[in-house]
Order: sequence, then C-alpha cells, then structure tokens
Amino acid sequence: SVVLQLRRSLLDWYAEFGRDLPWRRSRDPYAIWISEIMLQQTQVKTVLPYYDRWLGTFPTVQALAAADQQAVLKAWQGLGYYARARNLHRAAQAIVQQHQGQFPRQITAAMALPGIGQTTAGGILSAAFNQPVPILDGNVKRVLARLVALPHPPRKVLNQLWQLSETLLDPQYPRDFNQALMDLGATICTRHNPACLLCPWQQHCQAYNQNVQSELPMSESR
Ligand code: ADE
Repeated sequence: SVVLQLRRSLLDWYAEFGRDLPWRRSRDPYAIWISEIMLQQTQVKTVLPYYDRWLGTFPTVQALAAADQQAVLKAWQGLGYYARARNLHRAAQAIVQQHQGQFPRQITAAMALPGIGQTTAGGILSAAFNQPVPILDGNVKRVLARLVALPHPPRKVLNQLWQLSETLLDPQYPRDFNQALMDLGATICTRHNPACLLCPWQQHCQAYNQNVQSELPMSESR
C-alpha cells in the first residue's frame, strides 16, 4: 500500500542520509528533552555547542532542578526566547517533585509540564522510548502539506495534518520515522527550492506531481 511504501522509502533514505546528531545517540529522556526545547526555535548548528555545554553544566534533571535560576539563564545566554529556559527549570522541579525524577512516559503528563506542547511531547516520547506518538512541527507541516497538495493553509486544517502524521508514523520504528521526517523537512523538502529530485517521497508527492511544490503550503494569512 501507499502508506507502507512511504514508510519504507523514508526509513531507507534516513538510514543512508539521516543526520548524525548527538541527541540521536542518546536514549536519556532528559538529554532528549533539552535538545527538543533548544530546537523549538533555534537551528541545529546553533544548538550543537549549547547542547553539549548544557549537559556538562546540568547533567541530570536533579542537577537542573537544584540550580539557581541565574545559572540556568546564563547557560541559555545567546539562544534567545528565554521563557524556554525558565520553563525548563520549572519543569525539572516538577519532574523531581511530582514524578520521582523520571521524565513522564504518558503524553498527557508530559504535556502538563511547562514548555512542552503536543509536538515536543511526541518528539521526546518517540525518541527516548520509541513510543508511536506523532509530531507536527513547522517542517513536518510543510512536508505533509506538499505530500497531499493540501488546498488549505495548515493553520486551518491542523486536525487533518495531525491525523496524517499519525497515519504515516511507522508503528515498528516510530523513533527513526519521526527523526527522518524532521530531516526530510530540514534538508530536502525545504521552504525554498525543495530538492524534489533527491526526495524519497517524490513518486507519491502530489505537489511534485502537479509541479506546485513552490506554491505550497498555502500562506497562513486570513
Ligand atoms: N528539530 C526538532 N527536533 C529535532 C531533532 N530531534 N532533530 C533535528 N531537528 C529537530
């Protein structure tokens, strides 16, 4: 079926061309959580040195929970959007006090922590525990909008896009599938000049087949 071909072609592509990123070598939910928060609004190449330094300064959730807010903000200095650092600090204290120091495995519990929305929770739970939880960040919205030549701005049909992300997600390899989807959006299915000739989904991509990949996704303006 088409879904099986999409999963297989994406996972094969990822095995050959996926990026080797430090958080992908980790199964520590704390380290993966830090990476996902840093990556929310910041490029991979900017995050890399901050990620390593952060784990040197605050190697565990207990260390982060016990730190002074000044030290936390200092480790974040230069990344911007400082609410992310304050939320990390508060969430670390909640994990220590309410979850016995273990990152919660329930998506509802993860999403109750400050700074963790649905896509960040999906990114963490799939990467740390290989749970089949879908993601839908900006890159993934663009990839999926093109795949089905979505005739709407993503904002107007978020439920459809979440449904599609969930339907495609490989139940056997959710960790690799989600990481692959992010890499596809970041390296091939980019906003400008997508590299469709190198795309593992070219054959099934409705936007490519209609030659409208540069017009999609539709603008969010109302
Ligand atoms: N952006 C958000 N999460 C990411 C991840 N795990 N790898 C690369 N880019 C990302």
